[in-house]
Formats: sequence, C-alpha cells, structure tokens
Amino acid sequence: MAWRNDQVSQLETQKIIATAKECLAVAGDFVELGCYKGDTSLLLAEVVQESNITAPRDCAKKLWIYDSFEGLPEKSAQDSSVLGRDFQAGELLVSKKEVKQRFLRAGLPVPIITKKWFDELQDEDLPEKISFAFLDGDFYESIRDSFHVIEGKMADGGVIIVHDYCNAALPGVEKAVNEWCSMYNKQPARYQTMAIIKY
Ligand SMILES: C[S@@+](CC[C@H](N)C(=O)[O-])C[C@H]1O[C@@H](n2cnc3c(N)ncnc32)[C@H](O)[C@@H]1O
Repeated sequence: MAWRNDQVSQLETQKIIATAKECLAVAGDFVELGCYKGDTSLLLAEVVQESNITAPRDCAKKLWIYDSFEGLPEKSAQDSSVLGRDFQAGELLVSKKEVKQRFLRAGLPVPIITKKWFDELQDEDLPEKISFAFLDGDFYESIRDSFHVIEGKMADGGVIIVHDYCNAALPGVEKAVNEWCSMYNKQPARYQTMAIIKY
C-alpha cells in the first residue's frame, strides 16, 4: 500500500519497511516514538498484520506507537540551528483520536497508542522486548529520552532507526545518537538522513 508521508522521504520509508520486515524474524514488538499523523505507523501496521496472518498465535507481533499529541516540545540548546527555525514547540500537532481513525479507515489493526511525553513513559508503557524501533522525535532530549526508555528492551538481532540523524536543521538528533552510541559502544550506519543501529 502506498501511503503519502510528508515527514519521511520515499527512500527512507522503503528502508524502514524493509528493515522492519527483516526484524519479523526477531522476537519482540515494533515501536515508533514520535508517530505524528501515523504515516509510517500505518505501513508498520501493515507489515505486522501480514506477518501475523501466518505466525503462530504466541509469536504474533504488536505495534506500539507514542506521541505527546501536543506537538513538538521546547527545544534545548543542543537543537539550536538557523536552518531549523521552523521547528517550534507545538508544531506537528495532531490528536490521538485522528490517528486512531486513520487505522480504522484503512482497515488495519489499531496499534497500542500512548499519549505521553517521552520522559514520562514508564516501563509498563512499553513492550517487554523490542525487535524494531523507529525514533522520530526531532529534538535532542526527545531522542535521548527515547533511547532511555527502549534501552534494555532491545532484542538481539533487533534494529533501531533514528530519523534526522543527518539533518542540519535538527542537530540535536545527531548529538543524542552519538552520545548514546558512544555510551553503548554502537556504530550507527547512515542511510539518507537516518542512523541505523543494529543489535
Ligand atoms: C517528525 S514527527 C514524526 C513523524 C512520523 N514518525 C512519521 O513518520 O510520519 C515528530 C513527532 O514527535 C513528537 N514528539 C517530539 N518530541 C516528543 C517528546 N519528547 N515526547 C512526545 N512526543 C514527541 C511530536 O509531537 C511529533 O508528532
């Protein structure tokens, strides 16, 4: 199914979906932190749905998506960039209800949708194991907090993709990824604007 995505390029979307499909063989659920309108989430839901048709019931995967549904938070000093001046607190605002409706209209299973700021997420808001994580929170603290909540839950063979790693308008993303990778001795691969981190 071809969904229009105004936040993620077509090549990036293809890479996200191909990687998610590879992660179907890994135990654990899919998560997206920073779902906005759900463009990428809809595609991930389709991957999960197709896989669950043939998977034994106890291997069925779930998709968990997260957003403030209040738009972007305030920037921190690490996000400062002339190119990124249009990314302001409150931008990218959509309601949880609207996102849920999109899944219903598409005839796709509604994911577990959590409305919270990432730094308010509790252990029980996340799956026990994660095989694929897409982090797309745009700002330094948003990506740092996303890593914080998924760390310890990533399955061996799982993958984290972080959007905007190579985006001069959002320099905080690269800082958060590099800090985290050096702390956990990981080497991110680059694809378009994205960082791909394998477990
Ligand atoms: C670029 S959009 C996500 C686009 C989406 N992943 C897609 O592929 O269409 C960024 C989203 O992250 C959310 N966000 C950013 N920082 C957040 C935070 N700290 N806590 C919760 N949501 C956050 C914003 O509300 C916004 O909806």
